[in-house]
Amino acid sequence: MERLIIHGGKPLYGTIRVHGAKNAVLPIMAASLLAEEGVSMLDEVPYLQDVKTMKEVLLSLGVKIEEGDRWVLDSRELTSVEAPYELIGQMRASFLVMGPLLARMGKVKLSFPGGCAIGNRPIDQHLKGFEALGAKIRYEQGYIEAECPKLIGTSIYLDIPSVGATENIMMAACLARGETVIENAAEEPEITDLANFLNGMGAKIRGAGTDTIRIEGVSHLHGTVHTVIPDRIEAGTYMVAFAITEGEGFIEGVIAAHLTPVIAKLREMGVYVSEEERGIHVVGTQKLKPVDIKTLPYPGFPTDMQAQFMALLTKAAGTSVLTETIFENRFMHVPELVRMGAKIRTDGRTAIVEKSELVGAMVQATDLRAGAALILAGLAATGTTEIGQLHHIDRGYVSIESTLKSLGAEIERKSWSEPEGDGSPQRGHHLFIPAPSIARATLK
Ligand code: UD1
Repeated sequence: MERLIIHGGKPLYGTIRVHGAKNAVLPIMAASLLAEEGVSMLDEVPYLQDVKTMKEVLLSLGVKIEEGDRWVLDSRELTSVEAPYELIGQMRASFLVMGPLLARMGKVKLSFPGGCAIGNRPIDQHLKGFEALGAKIRYEQGYIEAECPKLIGTSIYLDIPSVGATENIMMAACLARGETVIENAAEEPEITDLANFLNGMGAKIRGAGTDTIRIEGVSHLHGTVHTVIPDRIEAGTYMVAFAITEGEGFIEGVIAAHLTPVIAKLREMGVYVSEEERGIHVVGTQKLKPVDIKTLPYPGFPTDMQAQFMALLTKAAGTSVLTETIFENRFMHVPELVRMGAKIRTDGRTAIVEKSELVGAMVQATDLRAGAALILAGLAATGTTEIGQLHHIDRGYVSIESTLKSLGAEIERKSWSEPEGDGSPQRGHHLFIPAPSIARATLK
């Protein structure tokens, strides 16, 4: 059990280099299952818990993996079409192995996926796509089985532009007979990165990054070399870190075009943001203005930046309105921010944020980006913030505390049972009140 301890109020200064994108590398790792010949080599793989989980999923299917500066994935001999329940349940993105396995092996059996608890996250659009390609789907005791000796290309209209469904169907369609057209497809940069990887493997995909993707099926795919795109959400989180602490920093290696709405909203709030050749320069300000934000599919404002902006908006002079349209339960950070003094009210999918004085408190990361928002709030708060449930944060940020420390933050990770060394009770025992004390307290 670990906690992050933050002594807030220190402005951050410095340069950071952004890592490869979590949401790009996960589907790309799944797509490597399609390579019957050669090996796939990946550069800029971020060493995250989610990447380790995907690695375990692939190992369970027979993929051989070498880690390093360049990851090597050898999928030539697959040994299984069934991934263990414990792994699929841990991370929703592990469901992305379904499309490649179905296309290459003609058969796949997976349990229903898990992931961050940010509302009901169905997979109906993934399954609708596989069925349209000719797969027979069966449900059995929490498992989904799909089968089809040879997928047949077709036209698929997604009811919502789901990122995962677009990726899963695009991967499956690469080995289908004839052409597949995905309409109302998601347009996220991670989809374009996956299409580039697949095209490097010999696939014929056009239109990725628009709402209509055309995939001409090929008979087989081979390994390729690919560099994962930079993580726009990691970059956006550090941009908010500089803004919320009234600091100044440079985020190297980020593609500014992937962050257009984030940059626009920061500028609207009064933060100085300059897009330069090598990255993005951010200068915070004491005088933040309130803004209204609505999350939308790309190129709209990313839902994965909503929580971080909520933390920042508590410092703006006035009332801001945040509307979450992608996920139905993505305000779990609100009660935690309120514990830190944030003045936030929610009404359904809308949150109203007023200027607040943030004060350190003991809080829990309820999901990945909620955890990031609490770190940001802790950096800006007076006093000490202790954040628990760090496994959520480790899913998506590479050594976040050492990066923040290098920028001047007072932050450290402590083990729950670590002795304090000063005679005070062990961490984790602070909630334990011996019975006699309770009795005395009650008698007073
Ligand atoms: C991906 C990202 C996640 C991001 C999200 C939205 C990865 C690994 N994760 O998640 O960080 O927050 O995109 O930008 O890339 N939906 C359905 N039926 C489906 C599929 C989705 O109703 O079959 C709904 C979901 O419940 C959700 C919305 O569509 O409300 C968006 O989900 P989707 O775009 O699929 O997100 P993910 O791919 O899970």
